[in-house]
Amino acid sequence: MCGIVAFNGLNDAEERIIQGLEKLEYRGYDSAGIAIIEDDKLQVVKAAGRLEALTDKLKDRPLKGTVGIGHTRWATHGVPTETNAHPHVSSDGRVAVVHNGIIENFQAIKDDLSEKGYTFYSDTDTEVVANLIASKFQGDLRKAVEDSINDVVGTFSLAVLSVDDPDKLIVTRRESPLILGICDDGVFAASDVPALLAYTRDVIYLNNDDIVEIDKDSYHIYNHGNPVQRDVQTVEWSLESAGKEGYDHYMIKEIFEQPKAIKDCLRRKVTDGFIDLKDQSFTKEEIEAFDHIYISACGTAFHASQVGKRALEDALQREITADIASEFRYNMPFLNENSLLIVVSQSGETGDTLAVLREAKLRGAKVLAITNVVGSSVDRESDKVMYCDAGPEISVASTKAYSTQLLSLYLLALDFGYKLGTYGREDVKMAIEEFESIPGKIEEILEDIDTLDPIAERLAKHPAVFYLGRGIDYLSAKEGALKLKEISYIHAQSMPAGELKHGSIALIEEGIPVVTIITQSPLVEKSISNIKEVKARGAYTIAITDEISTQFSDLSDAVIRVPAISDLYAPILAVLPQQVLAYKVSVLLGNDVDKPRNLAKSVTVE
Ligand code: G6P
Repeated sequence: MCGIVAFNGLNDAEERIIQGLEKLEYRGYDSAGIAIIEDDKLQVVKAAGRLEALTDKLKDRPLKGTVGIGHTRWATHGVPTETNAHPHVSSDGRVAVVHNGIIENFQAIKDDLSEKGYTFYSDTDTEVVANLIASKFQGDLRKAVEDSINDVVGTFSLAVLSVDDPDKLIVTRRESPLILGICDDGVFAASDVPALLAYTRDVIYLNNDDIVEIDKDSYHIYNHGNPVQRDVQTVEWSLESAGKEGYDHYMIKEIFEQPKAIKDCLRRKVTDGFIDLKDQSFTKEEIEAFDHIYISACGTAFHASQVGKRALEDALQREITADIASEFRYNMPFLNENSLLIVVSQSGETGDTLAVLREAKLRGAKVLAITNVVGSSVDRESDKVMYCDAGPEISVASTKAYSTQLLSLYLLALDFGYKLGTYGREDVKMAIEEFESIPGKIEEILEDIDTLDPIAERLAKHPAVFYLGRGIDYLSAKEGALKLKEISYIHAQSMPAGELKHGSIALIEEGIPVVTIITQSPLVEKSISNIKEVKARGAYTIAITDEISTQFSDLSDAVIRVPAISDLYAPILAVLPQQVLAYKVSVLLGNDVDKPRNLAKSVTVE
């Protein structure tokens, strides 16, 4: 996730900004840059890659000035290059901007500004904002920023400099975080607390659409043109916990980021309540021409792919093949130039997934990628790309990437189904409404997670846990079991509930925990029978369900309720308590939650 650090005051801005950017490195980034006003001139230095690449350049040419803006970029529009790195400068050279967030209507603004003679050099949405502010400037920088954000649809935190008002720094935010840090020698603006802690603990959390005018010795906050007061608060966090925004681990922070990740994922794929994948998808004719569709991925991404297969089968009314990349790469005899391959990968660098992609390209197939990392190999080598927009995922155990992979696949299925006529306008609208309800439903689940403590304690004591489900619930159970084994090291086995009796039931003994997922309406009765089977053999039974029937309370030792949603979309909610349970068990066992043994975040080797 991008990081912003800006400073205006009485002392050197470069040093303050760079130290702040270093403190934000944990957020993940792929390029960095800084702009300082030096002798009334705008000086911009940028570099692709690590911050050291930027500081190396600054060693040769330190910037002297007391007002500046800095940025670490996590690519969302355009690959991570020096040209796409922030700050972006308007084509007349007068305004520099750093930005976090997504400008949804950037193309419309860009077209308009191009007609007015502005030129664009990068692929970013941010450069549009720099030019928009320049086009609005009539002597008052704050007013120009205010007029510009009125035209912008999307999310942003922005820090803005202009040579026409060289002693001023303007910052603003909408949905994207931005805080002020108040020091004796000036004022910071930053996307997160750690950037400020070396200099101050006095911070102001800005509201949506607040615009702050920061001068050398004062700052004033406005909202829609009116002056407003915001309280100064004292940060009590240590630098270490501030990196995780007060959470103990990245995994639980990322679990709690899922409502935002879902909203961000929808933002780029939905316009006015309707599916709008633009060039992320294929045309009706292209979809009709595919003789077969394959999906391939590894680990958690494969579990999302299997649910995606169901969604695409519903949309296309024909069979789709989903296969694990490490298997598929050696067994794809029928994939040819008429095929579509969909690859799903958080990192976009997984070796097995890339091998499948490259073989498919050699054979002339089309490839559509779903990935979280702009500029990754999977992104660059595919014909079409849908970004998950989950923000960087740091914990090895994947959480928000999984839910946004699911959502991306649901949206792709909706797009294909609408183009081919399986779904009408109303079907699409209703599905989008359901997707828009997901962040609130996730928040509902997360409000109640303390109730999972006794269940986690129970799981932590047992050397093995079973996860059962039927139909799509089995796919949810697979992801739940993977989460538990990855970070708790407990043997967790998932299986289709009906298959249990064909062998594995021999392993059920007194006290063994069995988690059953029950969200698929036509299969509820069948799943209840399976709970009875294991209960009769002494299992400790846990049901995760959106059904309100009291049968579960009578049958199960613990019932975890999730909000109701259409059966096809249930995995996106059913996974939540499973992620939290795995997390809690790992903490109870004293494991290294974010960096579990033997695992890597991105497995680039075979
Ligand atoms: C590794 C990770 C898993 C991940 C899988 C696929 O095995 O440990 O958590 O699901 O790779 O990664 P990808 O980046 O391709 O989604």
